[in-house]
Amino acid sequence: MGYRLTRRSLFSAGAGAAAIGLAGCATQAPSALAAETRGAFPPEPAGKSLFGPAAGLALLSRNENPYGPAPSALRMIASSAEKGAYYTNDEAVKSLASLIADRHGVSPEQVVITTGSGEALSALALIYGPKGPIVAPRLFWDTTALYAAKLGMATIVRIPLTDDMDMDLAGIDAAITPETGMVQLCNPNNPTGIAKPGSIIRPAVEKMAEKTTVVVDEAYIELVDDEAEMTCIPLIKDGKDVIVTRTFSKIYGMAGIRVGYTVSSAETAEKIRNTLMSWTPCTSIAAAIGCYDDHAFVSYSKSKIVEAREMVTTTLDTLGLTYLKSQTNFVYFRSGLPANDLAKAMAAEKIAIRGQYMDYTPWSRVSMGKIEDVDRFCKALPRLLNA
Ligand SMILES: Cc1ncc(COP(=O)(O)O)c(C=O)c1O
Repeated sequence: MGYRLTRRSLFSAGAGAAAIGLAGCATQAPSALAAETRGAFPPEPAGKSLFGPAAGLALLSRNENPYGPAPSALRMIASSAEKGAYYTNDEAVKSLASLIADRHGVSPEQVVITTGSGEALSALALIYGPKGPIVAPRLFWDTTALYAAKLGMATIVRIPLTDDMDMDLAGIDAAITPETGMVQLCNPNNPTGIAKPGSIIRPAVEKMAEKTTVVVDEAYIELVDDEAEMTCIPLIKDGKDVIVTRTFSKIYGMAGIRVGYTVSSAETAEKIRNTLMSWTPCTSIAAAIGCYDDHAFVSYSKSKIVEAREMVTTTLDTLGLTYLKSQTNFVYFRSGLPANDLAKAMAAEKIAIRGQYMDYTPWSRVSMGKIEDVDRFCKALPRLLNA
């Protein structure tokens, strides 16, 4: 499929002013001229890369999606960059919020655009953390709760996973007290990849939301088999005290571009807006507007992720290894080696996978990347395990 956009097509697609700007720079600084002839990037340290994976590295450790950004996003980045002298217009942010609101059947006031969903989750931890503990599954994407904890603005109460590594919704519900600051869930969960169906998560979240604010991090939800069935956004429309966070980093392959959003009540949205720390770049907002409704790209992106995931699970099945059923772009599995040992052995083959989480020593996580990189992982695994 023709999703690659070359530098030439990017600059010829209506970016004439950018080309004029580059020529202007070249007359001013020799170092800038040298940079332009190299493609505007400074030299890269040996074996490293300034942007994206270093040459020859199969980057399968960070749940990125190498099939993005969509050409529809890249074109918008190029044309909005020409206006990079100016702060992002409110109109651009409102247009993106309206697109998102339309799709979810909420009002634009209920949508807050953030610089990655990480910013939204950090803001939520700062808003609700000082009220009382953040109650969460023992294993979840805890970076933002830890951020607030390190600032002394939150504590985390971690509820043990079930025997099958799933989040224990009944246990989380039982741990809520009048002092609880908020509940934070991640569906599908990271790093387990397990997705809770809507028929289970929605009633559980509804019950919790009668007692406290519930944040549901849906960073990977566009990758699941049936997103509409699983999302907790309908609870927000029913007036429940629920906040959903989403991102352009995963299905849209824009992790480095940094756009996320929240859906909540309009009142909560205002609190989130007041807590944000940055202004999302105009290029990022433009990219998100460009690709949000690019359904052809989204289904292409998803099909590549599913193809890669099937390669991984087929390999694990052949080796008789245990893994959790994932509906995401990563798989959590037991290789028989401690996770850090396997990550080290893979690193020697220039394949990056995640090391150990907490005390979950036997569990390794591999992310879906380019098909050829996932193929390298699938070939290296039996060799490294002497299987
Ligand atoms: C579950 C989950 N939520 C949120 C994020 C933050 O993503 P971003 O800030 O790029 O939207 C990540 C990043 O990997 C994640 O795994």
